[in-house]
Amino acid sequence: MPKYAALLPHMLHGCDYNPEQWMYDPAILRQDIEHMKEAHINCVSLGIFAWAALEPKEGEYHLDWLAEVIDNLYQNGIYTVLATPSGARPAWMAKKYPEVLRTGADRVRALMGGRHNHCYTSPVYREKVRAINTQLAARFAKHPGVILWHISNEIQGECHCELCQAAFRAWLREKYGTLEKLNHEWWTMFWSHTYSDWDEIESPSWRGETNVHGLNLDWKRFVSHQTAEFFRNEIEPLKAANPAIPVTTNFMGFHDSFDYYKLLPLLDVVSWDSYPTWHNSTDGNEMYNALWSDAYSDICRSMLGKPFLLMENTPSQTNWHEVCRPKHPGILRLTSITKLAHGADSIQYFQWRQSRGCSEKFHGAVMTHANRTDTRVFREVSSVGTMLEKLDRLCGAKTKAKAAILFDTENGWAIRDAKGPRNQDMGYQELFFRFYEPLWKAGIPVDIVNADMDFSGYHLLCVPMLYLLRGDTAKRIADFTKQGGTVILTMHTGLVNENDLCYMGDTPAEGLAEVAGVRLLEMDPLYDNQHETMRITRTPFPMAESYRCGKLCERISAEGAEVLAVYETDSPVLPDNMPCLTKNEFGRGTAYYVAAFAEHRFFSDLLLSLAERLGIAPVLDTTLPEGVTASARMAEGGEMFWFLMNWTAEQKSVNLPFPLRDFESGRSYQNVIPLAPYGAKILVKAE
Ligand code: GAL
Repeated sequence: MPKYAALLPHMLHGCDYNPEQWMYDPAILRQDIEHMKEAHINCVSLGIFAWAALEPKEGEYHLDWLAEVIDNLYQNGIYTVLATPSGARPAWMAKKYPEVLRTGADRVRALMGGRHNHCYTSPVYREKVRAINTQLAARFAKHPGVILWHISNEIQGECHCELCQAAFRAWLREKYGTLEKLNHEWWTMFWSHTYSDWDEIESPSWRGETNVHGLNLDWKRFVSHQTAEFFRNEIEPLKAANPAIPVTTNFMGFHDSFDYYKLLPLLDVVSWDSYPTWHNSTDGNEMYNALWSDAYSDICRSMLGKPFLLMENTPSQTNWHEVCRPKHPGILRLTSITKLAHGADSIQYFQWRQSRGCSEKFHGAVMTHANRTDTRVFREVSSVGTMLEKLDRLCGAKTKAKAAILFDTENGWAIRDAKGPRNQDMGYQELFFRFYEPLWKAGIPVDIVNADMDFSGYHLLCVPMLYLLRGDTAKRIADFTKQGGTVILTMHTGLVNENDLCYMGDTPAEGLAEVAGVRLLEMDPLYDNQHETMRITRTPFPMAESYRCGKLCERISAEGAEVLAVYETDSPVLPDNMPCLTKNEFGRGTAYYVAAFAEHRFFSDLLLSLAERLGIAPVLDTTLPEGVTASARMAEGGEMFWFLMNWTAEQKSVNLPFPLRDFESGRSYQNVIPLAPYGAKILVKAE
């Protein structure tokens, strides 16, 4: 069971709640509790952005109103996810202590305004955060209604002030010891950028240095480190007051202004905020949005190897998409079920009640300005709550994946920064999705790991574009293969070390050339309108005759690997039969090398054939109809839950390998189960 489940062994159904905006109208606050009960809300996130109400003047803490709200909620069976308010500071603080304000890469300090804009190094800001967190902890850490700390909100961004510059230099000294070492690792003889004093080092800026890639990378690492230190400062007083209350913070899918993985040692549970642009297609097919959001759910589930919380999603619409379409009838249920399917132990919303003013006044909410509960959205929220109330047994249930994809934040930064071989977009994320999509469509569970995580237990490890090698990752990939694993390496792998220095000698470096049995000869990037053809010459499993490739086509030589496909070229000058896909036996395992950025169909054919050979089965042994996805979780005691989601406007039916029972209606299905347009089902084994 996850730790918060020990406090509240139920699926959480909650929302961001901002009573501080409504204190002028106690009747609204009284109604809120009744309406929350009607909506089957069992928890609220309180205090996010409430600093001005909690400390209206420096050192003057007003916590009574919060205590009253928490008490009232608790007496009515609603638990509190208590936020620290550091996501936005009060105006008095910015006025009195300008150092708390963030400075941009242009070295201009921001004025008071917005949110997520503090300096995370500022001793004053850290002290103020610590002080208010200490107050909150002293008053509420032992409150039976408080089940979880929500640290700040969507922590992000960087600050370039003098305090940060000094801290950055200190961090660099610690890392490199000497300037000579730093100059070497950053290759600063280039363009005469050599540093002769630590104080000459400045964070990257478009006004100054952007070409020293080692600097850029280290800066992002420093930002991640500093954010984690800021975070540690936030949680210390909370944990000191009651270590049993777990800690989380809400991630923003695929956001990488700092490396989320650096926060993991400080988190008890991962949570994220999911805002896909539902209804943006012309044919009503929601697969693309689902693909994106399920992938990030799988990332969150893999981060700590246990369920995550869906901290925010909108009950209807956002106010910040280009066009803010509301979720149509049934979509909230469907998108909630897919979150549960991919490892969520909660469905929480931004927000309970729409603000009357300011920039989020038209953001969707459970309660709109109309202040009524007889709305479609309210009814749909309420029925998600009713569903979750029946799902205690699912709480804490795990997903067992035999396949993993390595997708790494630092590697993504380095690829993006590299200057060449393709500055239009190297497509790192796109290639990740070429691996993820076919497995997802087939209903094959997959974990998504970063380069530091343990992948020894998987049968199949997919490694798209591991351009940057750090620590012992390459060795662990080699060991994984040697010990019987199957690995798929691709183009643009093993080219630079952890400080972004190119390897001398053959690549993929650090032994990966031996694992794959290939050697890189040349990189050949393509314009978007150009393609090459990969012709399959022999594969141990069924593949099409040929596939289109684009973006990046590497010329490689097979050094012991078996050639499974070659480039077909009309060029009078390019040699024929250059290898494009290879297979190498390495130890007890096998390494495939995909040299070209091939079309979706290639990855689908390769991955599904390999999965079958390796005994990596879908959660249901059936062919899913186009537009339907499937997932499964195993609860304590081995009970299985299956989930089917229909992302299309058409009726679908799924052939069942064994009889299943609809968990909600109790109805059993022997051979076939129908799915309504945008329908979703939670299923268990039929007796
Ligand atoms: C999130 C944020 C919330 C709210 C929401 C609107 O990114 O955490 O505070 O602004 O977006 O969609």
